[in-house]
Amino acid sequence: MQGFNREVILGVGGGIAAYKSCDLLRRLQDHGFAVTVVPTPSSLNFVGKATWEALSGRAVTADVFENVEEVRHVSLAKKADFIIIAPATADLIARIAAGRADDLLTNVVLAADVPILVVPAMHPQMWNDPATLANVETLRTRGFIVLDPEIGALTSGDVGQGRFPETATILQALSEISDRTFDLLGKKILITAGGTREPIDSVRFIGNQSSGKQGFAVARSALRRGATVTLIAANTNLSDIDGVTTVHVQSAQEMLDVLTKEFEQCDVLVMAAAVADARPESVVVGKIRKSDYGSINLVENPDLLKTILANKSHQVVIAFAAEGSHDVAAAEAKLSSKGADILYLNDISHGDIFNSETTYGEIFIKDCASVKVAKTTKDTLANQLLDQALLKLG
Ligand code: CTP
Repeated sequence: MQGFNREVILGVGGGIAAYKSCDLLRRLQDHGFAVTVVPTPSSLNFVGKATWEALSGRAVTADVFENVEEVRHVSLAKKADFIIIAPATADLIARIAAGRADDLLTNVVLAADVPILVVPAMHPQMWNDPATLANVETLRTRGFIVLDPEIGALTSGDVGQGRFPETATILQALSEISDRTFDLLGKKILITAGGTREPIDSVRFIGNQSSGKQGFAVARSALRRGATVTLIAANTNLSDIDGVTTVHVQSAQEMLDVLTKEFEQCDVLVMAAAVADARPESVVVGKIRKSDYGSINLVENPDLLKTILANKSHQVVIAFAAEGSHDVAAAEAKLSSKGADILYLNDISHGDIFNSETTYGEIFIKDCASVKVAKTTKDTLANQLLDQALLKLG
């Protein structure tokens, strides 16, 4: 993922829930965290080093006497932004509470001065044992964030409080100790970006100047805020974003085909792409000779938003309107004629448009007052638009 990398140490205790931390590791990477796994030696009975090394792409050590020359407990502690211990067993919690340093993970915990999230998972009787409860209390008093385990069925066949929480719950808790907000967790965001191209012949096309930067900025922000993001990119020169499912298209019709497939299951559609309003009536196979050019007959393209929104149910829809002036009437008319919930009037008269890093305009919101956007970055606008979408989602 571009530019957001924060270092996380994922400490893994010796419980069966260790295998669930494989998914946690993947999701942390999706959200832009670079993860170093520090398993306890006993946890390697459940998930081995090879698995952690393959998943994290980093060397894994469990013992403080491995790679001694690196003084690994100190170097790891220094470079970490957060530590997550998941699963935390009763024994591991007890050792941390007692200030022990008998493996690499407990050494790192002692050496670190960063927020630590502890995710206990164990048999309900072990969780409810006064010793464990007292140890948890000690950790909480010292500023550790300790999640309560969930109630449900356990590997032993018993039912009670001790289950490892869903990955989403852990990420939500992480947002409390990080500067990252996971307020779009579980939401599916579908975004179009770039400009469509309508072929004239095998060589030429009708296109437009859209760079795709605004749509990509929305994709980055949505991903950073925990959403599952699908990006339909039309003819951009931008690199795919790790963690975002990107579908590349050329023409308006191709974009419509992907939108039709993806729209129903999305929660928010952000229609940032500049879609060609017309296309050549027929496409010549091969190259039209200079001498054969007369005129190109155009036919109207479907309005993608109007077509898609015929099947709108729960989705919140954000449209864009690039206008040559701050044309409020045009923006309000487009908001209602397109059937969108939110529309960003992109005032291009200030030069803040194609390929620019900045933008200037106004956000129009169905049944609410509009919000003026002074010259700002496309990343900031992306967050403002997602804030509005979140309000609409309730
Ligand atoms: N849009 C669309 N299908 C089209 C044209 C535009 O879905 N065939 C979407 C754009 O992605 C944008 C919104 O409609 O979110 C407004 O696009 P804009 O080009 O400003 O408006 P048009 O409908 O094309 O109207 P006009 O060009 O006449 O201003």
